[in-house]
Amino acid sequence: MQPPIVAPSLLSADFSCLADGVSLIEKSAADWVHLDVMDGSFVPQITFGHKMVTDIRRITDLPLDVHLMVVHPETLVEGFCGAGADYVTVHAEASVHLHRLLTGIKKLGCKAGVSIVPSTPLSAIQEITPVVDMVLIMTVNPGYGGQTIIPTCLDKVRKLKDLKSKKGYEFLIQVDGGINLDTYEQAIRAGSEVLVMGSAFFNDRDPGSLIDRIKRCGNVKAV
Ligand code: DX5
Ligand code: ZN
Repeated sequence: MQPPIVAPSLLSADFSCLADGVSLIEKSAADWVHLDVMDGSFVPQITFGHKMVTDIRRITDLPLDVHLMVVHPETLVEGFCGAGADYVTVHAEASVHLHRLLTGIKKLGCKAGVSIVPSTPLSAIQEITPVVDMVLIMTVNPGYGGQTIIPTCLDKVRKLKDLKSKKGYEFLIQVDGGINLDTYEQAIRAGSEVLVMGSAFFNDRDPGSLIDRIKRCGNVKAV
């Protein structure tokens, strides 16, 4: 029995001192740093570009998990891979030529992830699952931290878990949005292996204990 991988999202950290946010993640037993890139078009907010990833790369050895919520991701992946990202995840809704994009991310030396928003069915990415390293099932409509999980999205996680074991795929199953103390267990039971956690981590008075508690709920294989 392995604990889930936990990836706190800096979206909920204080942007005026992001290094403190990274250090909070490092002091806990969390595994990855999740970086939400928003372009004001695919989603309403704007966050940051690849320079931020370059700068965060300099201050931590934790894997950097870059979630691109942008239109035309094909114009941006090279910059994020070059900046030191470990995982680069793009949205299926944002790219027609997903196969080219995802294999391109891998050629650039990163792990390639694909994500779908709550209204997109799993069938939209079925053809691409053999080539991906991670599938991110959004459990809220992307764009903001602190939203409430849409429970039906976990049905997609269950279906994906079945597909993964039936076909022997090795991609990780990640969930993002509304994961907190009330929801992490159901997310793990559904088959989630990587939990993104923004507001629940950064708003907690003792994020270290929060992560310890989540880590005790282990049923997945870490990489
Ligand atoms: C939302 C982002 C998330 C966000 C999650 O679009 O992709 O990564 O930080 O925040 P919480 O955990 O607060 O729902
Ligand atoms: Zn995210």
